[in-house]
Amino acid sequence: MSGLTVKDFPKDFKWGIATSAAQIEGAAFEDGKGAEIWDVFSRIPGKTFGGQTPDVACDYYHKFPEQLALMKELGFNSHRFSFSWARILPEGTGRVNEKGLDFYRRAVDAMLENGLMPNATLYHWDLPQELEYRGGFLNRDVVNWFTEYAGLLFETFGDLIPVWTTFNEPIATYVGYGLGAFAPGRKSEKSGRQANHNLLLAHGSAVKRFREIFGEKQGGFDTSRPNVGIVVDIWHHHPARPDNADDVRLAELENEKAYRSYLDPIFKGGYSPALLKFMADSYCLPDIRPGDFELIKQPLDFFGLNCYNRVVDSADPSKVRQAVEFGGGNYMDNGAEFYPKAIYDALHIMKDMYGLTIPIFITENGTYNCEEEPVRDAEGRLRVHDVTRIRYIDGFLEWLKKAMDEGIDVRVYYLWTLLDNFEWTAGNSFRFGIVRSDYGAENLLLKDSAYHMKEFLLG
Ligand code: NOJ
Repeated sequence: MSGLTVKDFPKDFKWGIATSAAQIEGAAFEDGKGAEIWDVFSRIPGKTFGGQTPDVACDYYHKFPEQLALMKELGFNSHRFSFSWARILPEGTGRVNEKGLDFYRRAVDAMLENGLMPNATLYHWDLPQELEYRGGFLNRDVVNWFTEYAGLLFETFGDLIPVWTTFNEPIATYVGYGLGAFAPGRKSEKSGRQANHNLLLAHGSAVKRFREIFGEKQGGFDTSRPNVGIVVDIWHHHPARPDNADDVRLAELENEKAYRSYLDPIFKGGYSPALLKFMADSYCLPDIRPGDFELIKQPLDFFGLNCYNRVVDSADPSKVRQAVEFGGGNYMDNGAEFYPKAIYDALHIMKDMYGLTIPIFITENGTYNCEEEPVRDAEGRLRVHDVTRIRYIDGFLEWLKKAMDEGIDVRVYYLWTLLDNFEWTAGNSFRFGIVRSDYGAENLLLKDSAYHMKEFLLG
C-alpha cells in the first residue's frame, strides 16, 4: 500500500464493506417481498445488460452468514447495507411483512456477532412498485410513505444500529424520473426535479421522525446511540480548458444540477440562484411550498460521501482526453479516468463550500472491471490479478489521508464492494467486488485486491 499502513489512520477509524439490498439480496419474490421498481424496470427489454434482473444477485438473503463472516475474515469491522422497503412493506405502506423484518433481525445479529458495526440505509433506489403505481416520487405523499417506513425501522432496530442513512445518492432518483435511464424510467427534466424535491422533503421528514423517537441531537457523533445522516455522491465537474468560458460555464452548471442540488437545500436551506435560474429557464421548477426548506434542512449527525471519480467537461468533447492527459491523469483499463485526488477535492468541497463540521463517512469507493479473468498460478491455483483495483484503492486512500491530515474529520472508509453483484443497468457485466463470484455467490474466489486489503487491515 504505497507506504501507508492501517496505523497511519486514527485508532478508532473504521473500515467497512458497502452493499445495497437490490444489488445483493436476491430472493426477489420470496417470503412475501413485494416487487420494487428494479424488478419491473429490468424486465423491460433493453433496459439492463442482457435483460439481467436482481432476482438472484448474490443470494445474500440465504448466504448472508458466509458473506458477513468473509468481511470479518478480511479484516473489515463495519457493514453498510440497505433495507428493502418492499420486503418490509410489500405495498409500500400499511401491512408489515414479518418475515422481512425477521430476515433483517437475523442479518443484523450476524453483523454484530462478526464485529461489523451496522450502518443502515433506508433507501437505495428500490421503491416498492405499488408506490410507483401511485406516482412514486412525483407524488408528494411519498413524504408520508417514507416517514412511516422509516419510523417502523427506527422503532424496530434503533437500539441495534448506530448509523442510519435516509437516502443513498438521491441523483439516482433524478436519473430514474428525469433521464429515464434508471428505474422507474420516466423521462422529463420537470419530473426529475420534482422527484428530487419530494425526496429531499422525505429525507427531512424522516430525520424529524428519528429525533422524535431518539431525542433531539445532542453533542457530536457518538456510536453509543443512533445517529442519522444522508449519502450524496460528488463527481465534481472540471472544465477541460479552465480559460475557456464555455467549458467553465458547462462544468459549473453540471455541478449545480448534480451534487449541489442536494447539498444546497440540506446544508444551506435552499436551491442556489444558478439552479433556480436553470430550472425557471427550462420550465422545470418543482412545486416548492412554504416551509419546505425548513423541513429539508434538518441538523444531521454525519455526512456520507460516495466518491468514485471526477468528470471533465468541454463544449468541445475532443478536448477532454487531452485535458486529462495534460493534467497528469490517465485512464484505467475500464475506460474511466484514474483520478484519486477526487476524494480530496470532494472532502474540501464539503469543508470549504459547505462549512461542514459534522464527521464525514466515505460511504463508497471502488472500481470495476480490472483484470478480472482468473488465471492459474505456478501451483495451479486460480488467481485474479486485479492490479488496477489495488492501485485505485491505494491512490484514494493516500488522498483521503492527506485530507484527514489537513484536519477533515473522516471516521470510516467503506469499500464498494465484497462480491461482484447486480450493477443496475450494467447487470452482471460490471464486476465491482474484491471477491469474484459466479452470480448467485457460487465459486467465490478472492481477487488479489481482497488479499491486499486483508494484509493492509490485519498485517
Ligand atoms: C453508487 C451506488 O450507490 C451503488 O449502488 C453502485 O453500485 C456503485 N455506485 C457503483 O456504480
